[in-house]
Formats: sequence, C-alpha cells, structure tokens
Amino acid sequence: MFEVDPNSQANLGEIATEHVHLDLAVDFAGRKLIGTATHRLAAIATAREVVLDTAHLNIKGARLLNADQSSVALEIDTSTVHSIYGTALRLPLPEPVSAGQSISVEIDYETSPDSGAIQFLTPEQTLGKSQPYLFTQCEEIHARSLLPCQDSPSVKLSYSANIRVPKPLTALMSAIATGSHDDGDSTVYSFKQQITIPSYLIALVVGNLVSAKISDRCAVWSEPENIDACAWEFAEMETILQTAEEVISPYLWGRYDLLVLPPSFPYGGMENPCLTFVTPTLLAGDRSLTDVIAHEIAHSWSGNLVTAKNWEHFWLNEGWTTFFERKIVGRLNGEDARQLSCVIGEGDLLESVEFYGKDSPLTALVPQLDGVDPDDAYSTVPYDKGAHLLYYLEQLLGGPSVFEPYMRAYIQAFQGRSISTFDWKSHLFDYFAENEPTKIELLNNMEWDKWLTEPGMPPIGNHYDERPQKACLDLADRWMKAARESAYDQFSPADIATFSTMQRVIFLTRLAEAAPLQPDTLAAIDSTYALTGYRNCEVRFSWLVLALKSNYMAVADAVVDMLSAQGRMKYTRPLYRLLHACPDGRSLAEETFLRLRNFYHPICARMVEKDLGL
Ligand code: BES
Ligand code: ZN
Repeated sequence: MFEVDPNSQANLGEIATEHVHLDLAVDFAGRKLIGTATHRLAAIATAREVVLDTAHLNIKGARLLNADQSSVALEIDTSTVHSIYGTALRLPLPEPVSAGQSISVEIDYETSPDSGAIQFLTPEQTLGKSQPYLFTQCEEIHARSLLPCQDSPSVKLSYSANIRVPKPLTALMSAIATGSHDDGDSTVYSFKQQITIPSYLIALVVGNLVSAKISDRCAVWSEPENIDACAWEFAEMETILQTAEEVISPYLWGRYDLLVLPPSFPYGGMENPCLTFVTPTLLAGDRSLTDVIAHEIAHSWSGNLVTAKNWEHFWLNEGWTTFFERKIVGRLNGEDARQLSCVIGEGDLLESVEFYGKDSPLTALVPQLDGVDPDDAYSTVPYDKGAHLLYYLEQLLGGPSVFEPYMRAYIQAFQGRSISTFDWKSHLFDYFAENEPTKIELLNNMEWDKWLTEPGMPPIGNHYDERPQKACLDLADRWMKAARESAYDQFSPADIATFSTMQRVIFLTRLAEAAPLQPDTLAAIDSTYALTGYRNCEVRFSWLVLALKSNYMAVADAVVDMLSAQGRMKYTRPLYRLLHACPDGRSLAEETFLRLRNFYHPICARMVEKDLGL
C-alpha cells in the first residue's frame, strides 16, 4: 500500500524538497545533459535517508552540503529497480534529520539517450536544418529521467537553473529567464521559478529560437522559419489570458509565453509554467484552434496552482481545466461555441469508454494506479468525465451565478497546494453548507460512488443545447440519404462554408458513426469539400478517421503524409490503429511506423508500438 503516491518510490512521508537548483550542460553529440542537481529538503518526520526517483540516469556522486560550505560524500544505493517507476536513488544520511530540519544534497549526474523526458532532434529534424534541438516533456512521471527528484505532484518546489548550451542556441525553461552570459563557445542561461510547482512542470527547450512580442507579458517563440506564422496564429493570446483572469482570478506567474515546437511534440499543448509548449499542428492559418491555448492558460490555475496530489486525481487537473477552457471559449466565442465543445467532449468520452470497455477500471473518474504506467492510463476520461461532472454540478446547484463564485473560492482555497478528490469534495460541501445551505440536500442526494469511483459513462447525462450542432447533423443525415440513391449533385462547398472548425468536426464525426460508408459516397464527400489536403488538422484528421473506418484506401497516401508530418499522439495513435485495422492497411501501418519510428517522440513511439502489438 502506498501512502501518498503509487507512482513514486521517494520517501514522501519523511522528507520534502523545497527547492532544486540545476546546473546542466547540453551535450548534443552524446544526446545527454551533464551536471548537478542540488536539493534543499525539509524533514516532515525523522528521516534516515533521502530516496529520490530516477530513470535512465547515470548517478556519479552525491554530497551532503553543510552550512559552512563543507560537504560529506554520501553512499549511493541504486539497487531498488521497478520496471515502470524506475530506479530508486537511496542516499543514507550520516545521521538522521528530525522533523522541521532542512538539509542540502548535491548530486552529480548525466541523463542518457534513453531518458523518456528528453527528445533530441538532429538538424535535419528541424525547420532550419542547421542546428540541433532538444525539448523535454515531464508529465506525468518522466521528470525522473531529467533529474533525480521526488517525482510526485504531491511535492511542490521552487527551482533555479543555469543551462550551458553551444552557441548560437537559446535555452528556455518553465520559469522566468534571469539573464545569460557568454563563456567561450557556450552561452549560459539562468532561470528562476519562484512559485512552488510539482516536478512534472520542470521543462527545458534548447534550439535556434526567436521570439515575437504579443503584449507586455506574452510572446511567441519558435524557430525563425515560422515565427511570423506563429505570431499571427496566436496573436489573441493576451485576450485569452485576460478572459481567463475575468473567469477565474488575476494571473500570478508573471510572463505567459508560448513555444511552438517541432512536429514530433507528442501533445497538443503542455502547460509548462510561464512557457506553454504547443504542437505546430495548431498552425491552421485561421486562428481556429486557439481553444488549446485557452486550455493551457486555464492550467495556470487548475493544475499549476491547485495540483492533483497523485495521478489518480488527475481529473482535478484536466477536468477542471477543460471546464474552465469551455467557460473561456464561451466568453470569447459565445455560448454556442461552448455547447459545441461540450458535445464534442461527450462524444470523445463515449469513444474512450467504448475503447477501454464500460467495465474497465480505467474509465473511473478516480482510477487506481498502483502498479500502472500513467502513460497507459492516459485518455479523455479525466478530461471529459471530469468536465461533465462539473457541468452537471453547475446546473444542479443553480447555474453560473451560483457556481462561478464557488469555483473562484475553490481556487482561492487550495492555490499553492496538492490535493485529492476527497479534499475537493469536502470543500464543495463546506462551501455550499456555508454559502448556499439550501443546496446541500442536492449534494447529499448524489450517488457519489457512481460519479467518482465506478467505471463507465457518468450516472446522469447533461442537457446540452442541440441547436448549434443541428445543421451539422442534418447535413450528415442528408449525405446518408443521398448515399442510398447515389444522388450527390445536391451538395456543394457552400454546405459547410459557414461552419466553424468544431461544426465541421461534428459533421464528419456523425458520418464516421455510420461507417462503413461506400467508396462512391466517400469520393463524393471528398471531391465536394476537398478534405484530403485540408490544412486544418482537426478537420483533416476527422475526415481520415471516417475514411479509414470505411476501409477507403484512396486516402492511404494522405494518411501516411499526416503520419510523417506530425507526431501528436491525439492524431498519430488513432490513425495507426485504424489503418492497421483496415483489411488492406495492416502492412502499410507497420512499414510506415518502422520507417518513421525515430521521427516520433519516445513516448509516442512506445504507445504506437503497444497499439499495433509490435
Ligand atoms: N497536461 C496536458 C498534456 C499532458 C497530459 C501531457 C498528460 C502528458 C501527460 C495538456 O494540458 C493537455 O491536456 N493537452 C491536450 C490539449 C487540450 C486542449 C485537451 C492535448 O495535448 O491534446
Ligand atoms: Zn490539460
């Protein structure tokens, strides 16, 4: 049984990191980082050792630092190895530290090319083709392959860093940049993150990077080749940030910058503090995919200030953030847009529940993760089941005028802390008992086990406004009717010209639910709306899903193109899975993956490998 976090081997009940200082040099030729991590730790109970999480690290030495600058070498015990959670680094202390006392421990180490947190790119894998590049992705349990640490979101620490990189490259971190200096062929960049954060929010990028200013506190970073496109696409980020502040509370992190990564970045976005990382697949040329920015901005409160205590409570990060994201989208683009986003989320949830099976424990809002790899448990369930619960509560308890003050009080109550679902629920009850006592009966009557711990769809559905999607569903129904008579000349590009990106996705997803469609129908859809070469990735992806579900191999080249051009897991995993499931697609899926494996991020490659049973 675990005390705090089933996915960490650190002695979290005894000692807690308060601050880490990193001093690292980047070795591109060796595909590794070399240097030291210095932890200041405070004992919570009597501690006879410090146990840190590591994975794929080469630990070269450890010292206890004394107040007078002298140090004592520590014995290093790396004999405890877990197949998923990595190697525990045990550092027995010369004498026990008691509760309240602090110690500093300095560790010399190197990462290795197998570190799951770091992807090194060759110059050929970048836009500029002339400089190497690296980026990290630590959520959920990969920080331990970047630095030895208590790799649990229950622990919050501040951090500082000096990063030495070869000229002319730039280093950025999830922190405030505090300066740089030249040192021969290198530049050393310094950073400080003074707000305490969980280890999974430590992030680093090194590459040929330039920035474009958006506002006094917002800039976009990318390689110079696409900086203009990035600055245009994300020009609204300051407005989105201000809207989030209106919905929740003032932004506390100082800067909010955006880094547009190379195409192998495995997620849509990652909420690294002060510097959100995003996939270049958001460059749709029409600013229509900025809901991902709204999502990552919302994490500045849910996730980064109020943090899930361990990965079983991940929904507190993602469910709340999805709920906030939709509030922001609603304020910016209207309530119809929010309703559409909810409807899409509901469809994604249903799909996940069908994929895992409605009795699968991984479909519980709060799953049990003892012995589980969080990468395997990752799905839309915590996002959409979580957002579904919060939307349900908002309706139940009296709508936004009652719920919005509550959600601000929730952030206010827990900011700076790591909490469990239990903490969330007891605050919910306390808040309503105190502020809206007539509502407490409604909360008492809820079937909480069904909502929180039982698998499958939520026990009660939500009523979303059907009108914003009606035109999309009607158009899909017309196509199905036309398919029976092969009567396609009634359709034209004008059918979808006024649809938003989300409405186009809903239209295509409705057709995919009716798959398999016949080849002549698919050919007519494609030639009417020119979907195969469609620039917007959400729309192109939805089309390819529909086509593959219908075994329509005319799209095979377009599928391979999309698999070669980007490695975002949201697109990459389903495309491989569906291509692999086509009677004529199996060997194409396998060959394509083997050819592109080195292009993908290590996490993405591992997941696709599992999906295809390779
Ligand atoms: N924090 C997540 C990304 C993440 C989750 C990385 C778990 C590693 C493990 C991020 O905020 C996120 O949810 N991104 C989404 C976009 C969003 C609009 C749903 C994504 O990547 O698709
Ligand atoms: Zn998120």
